[in-house]
Amino acid sequence: MDNRPIGVFDSGLGGLTAVRELRRILPGEDIIFFGDTGRVPYGSRSPHIIKEYAKQCMDFLEKQDVKMILVACGTVSSVLGEKIGEGRKIPCIGVLEPTVKAAVSATKNKNIGLIATMATVASGSYEKLTAKLMPEANFTGKGCPLFVPLVENGYFASDCEVTRLVAKDYLSAFEGKDIDTLILGCTHYPLLYNLIDSITEYKLNLIDSGKEAALGAKALLEERDMLSGWRKIGGMKFFVTDKEEGFAKLGKEFLGEELSDVTRVEIEEL
Ligand code: DGL
Repeated sequence: MDNRPIGVFDSGLGGLTAVRELRRILPGEDIIFFGDTGRVPYGSRSPHIIKEYAKQCMDFLEKQDVKMILVACGTVSSVLGEKIGEGRKIPCIGVLEPTVKAAVSATKNKNIGLIATMATVASGSYEKLTAKLMPEANFTGKGCPLFVPLVENGYFASDCEVTRLVAKDYLSAFEGKDIDTLILGCTHYPLLYNLIDSITEYKLNLIDSGKEAALGAKALLEERDMLSGWRKIGGMKFFVTDKEEGFAKLGKEFLGEELSDVTRVEIEEL
């Protein structure tokens, strides 16, 4: 048993897709969330910058005495790969493995699509892991750089015309590919789940990387006997590197819970 909080990290709002699932499946756990909102988006940056930012944010979480770190960011998970927990005293898990496992078990025709950030697609991380777990799969990846800024600015309602237009353009990359499964490989994208589901006419298995990462974190804690023994609803604490208000407002809209404890951290202090 371990009563310390779970640490969750992302560049911004996307990590809340993992938090939402953690609240559902592990309601007794305390959560400390770190969103690097002052430097979002990560997905258009170079791997060495992403690694440096990730190190600073994960060091910060480790200093908060969390029992594990869930890297709820497809971009960081892709760039760090198997080195995700290197040099850390606590276990770390990313979104990659649980998400790809869910995709290969969902597909029937073995035609899998991925939408993710440019850095994630360029890393080839999802494609390589899919090929390892299902060598006969056909894989098509598409970078969608406008999705993160749209989500961060609150354009995630399923009837939002601007985002629908952008999404239709991106999703046209899968025409003729006969995919039956689409990985939402950036954790910001599940905020667009309903919008993407309606554009693809509810025909695809949409794999939510935030949700799968949370399930992966639960499995890890169970395996190591590190679940909390609290018999209460866990608390949530949020740290961000830009204005607290905007994050708290959009976060509440998505989580359906008040984000009452949001603190700004200066990037220079990381
Ligand atoms: N949620 C991050 C991901 O999963 C977004 C990356 C970004 O900041 O561009 O990739």
